[in-house]
Amino acid sequence: MVTINELMIQEHIKLLRLLSEIGEKQQTDFFITKTLLNKFREAVQRHFFQEETIIFERVIKVRGKKDLIRLIKEHKEINELIDKIEKDIDFNLSPKIDNLKIVFINHSRFETETFYPRLDKELNNKIKIRLS
Ligand SMILES: [Fe+2]
Ligand SMILES: [Fe+2]
Repeated sequence: MVTINELMIQEHIKLLRLLSEIGEKQQTDFFITKTLLNKFREAVQRHFFQEETIIFERVIKVRGKKDLIRLIKEHKEINELIDKIEKDIDFNLSPKIDNLKIVFINHSRFETETFYPRLDKELNNKIKIRLS
């Protein structure tokens, strides 16, 4: 059976690929940067929505709100960084993608190295207890 963590690792890889594309083109063409940024924003917001409405709901039932406050706060921070980059592009300032990349990578790493493995384990134990 595929674990939630395995699915999320795949999702994060796709998102990071979109984010890396922005970094490659940013110095040469702001219009391309903005198009790629919007593509990333749409994908990342879809991902956050999924996490917050489907997965986090389950977490609350399993373990309460621990960790969720941190994750939701980081989602907000990532969204704000995207908005800031868009504003910079609109003012013809060189957008700072690196900071967004660092925050996104740290966030994803915490989810797939700590948060989701723990959740998978807890859900599994719950199922085992229910079956025994
Ligand atoms: Fe997340
Ligand atoms: Fe995630």
